[in-house]
Amino acid sequence: MADETLNRVWLLHGVNLDMLGRRDPEQYGTMTLAELEAFVVEEGRKRGFDVRPFQTNHEGVLVEKIHEIVREGAAAVMINPGAWTHYSYALRDALEMVAAPIAEVHLSAVDERETWRRQSVIADVASVRVSGKGAAGYAEALARLADLLRHGDES
Ligand code: DQA
Repeated sequence: MADETLNRVWLLHGVNLDMLGRRDPEQYGTMTLAELEAFVVEEGRKRGFDVRPFQTNHEGVLVEKIHEIVREGAAAVMINPGAWTHYSYALRDALEMVAAPIAEVHLSAVDERETWRRQSVIADVASVRVSGKGAAGYAEALARLADLLRHGDES
């Protein structure tokens, strides 16, 4: 891995997450995506990570972004794929190629909502999973990734 990617943590958001702030605030809160990204960048900075945000509504664009991460290397990847979580095997297969640890994060409590949201096709490639904690869940995921990178586990 190149030196400049050693501390890089990608913060990937998928479909419809650009609408945070106006989209179902009861489930997703009132923070905009820009505010959420700024929060995670700052949380990462405190831990010595260079957090790079990226969002797209196009599945192939996200897959190609993941290919770029596979080629360049990274310390870790945090991803909230939105609805793709529940059915995108293409996304799951792309994530499987990432050597760095992956955190799957959801703002809402996906396990307590509609049945179709309880299924995650990316769960088996994620080392860390956090849901239902809003923006704080991203900070928790970062902390758990930092532990994983330090100790190789979460102790
Ligand atoms: C989400 C949960 C998904 O079910 C939904 O499709 C989203 C957001 C969350 O952050 O809670 O777009 O990933």
